[in-house]
Amino acid sequence: MGILDHHKKIETHATLLLVLSFLVVTIGGIVQIVPLFYLDNTIEKVEGMRPYSPLELAGREIYVREGCYVCHSQMIRPMRDEVERYGHYSLAAESMYDHPFQWGSKRTGPDLARLGGRYSDDWHVQHMIDPRAVVPESIMPSYGFMMNRELTRTDAEHIRDLMSVYRVLGHPYTDEMMDLAVSDFFAQVDEFGDDVTERYPGAQQRNFDGQPQLTEMDAIIAYMQMLGTLVDFDTFVPDASR
Ligand code: HEC
Repeated sequence: MGILDHHKKIETHATLLLVLSFLVVTIGGIVQIVPLFYLDNTIEKVEGMRPYSPLELAGREIYVREGCYVCHSQMIRPMRDEVERYGHYSLAAESMYDHPFQWGSKRTGPDLARLGGRYSDDWHVQHMIDPRAVVPESIMPSYGFMMNRELTRTDAEHIRDLMSVYRVLGHPYTDEMMDLAVSDFFAQVDEFGDDVTERYPGAQQRNFDGQPQLTEMDAIIAYMQMLGTLVDFDTFVPDASR
């Protein structure tokens, strides 16, 4: 009985209850959060990760704008069913250049963390214009308008400005990358243009949507085709297990 009497004091005293609840939540938070700063696999640098190329970044902006994350996650959990369906589980480092990250919390559609290279560009164009044309039971909205939205120099300059913001946040964009941001933006859809892969290893450089002009469709497909392709999982050995 004695100990319950004491508890009554807490329950009937709002300020005391508040202070003690706060204390409990703080301890719980510290126990959960602090180890993440020391665990090897949450802070390890991973080979192959690089900041987004200007066109990929434009695609990412469209992805965020359209709220694709409302239906799609970009985080494969380290559980067998997920790994067998989607591929190697996501590493913390794979989101290091995502502000904000696109992990998502709902999967109306499949996870997209390892989407790159799974489908052809043509498939993506078809699927974005009319998802039902390639997946009859799909409930995904169509985004055909992206074919008609041309990207201009102003968009390229906007992306360059965005890159300079990311630079402040610590993304390793070099002076050369900044100087060439606008021209790289256009070069990535031109196989014969300036070699974008010199600055962005592993970037894919081609006409993505098959139209002569650069459109939002090019940008979103450039982004989708690079998702999950930067880290080579054939050679990856997690630090934590070394
Ligand atoms: C209302 C929910 C919803 C929204 C919003 C949505 N999708 Fe989807 N998406 C789905 C569903 C459901 C599927 C599975 C059926 C299909 O393939 O169409 C899917 C499938 C996909 C696939 C094929 C993935 C695979 O592995 O087969 C891609 C790629 C994709 N979506 C991209 C996008 C992009 C990019 C956006 C934003 C521009 C977007 N989706 C917005 C519901 C959505």
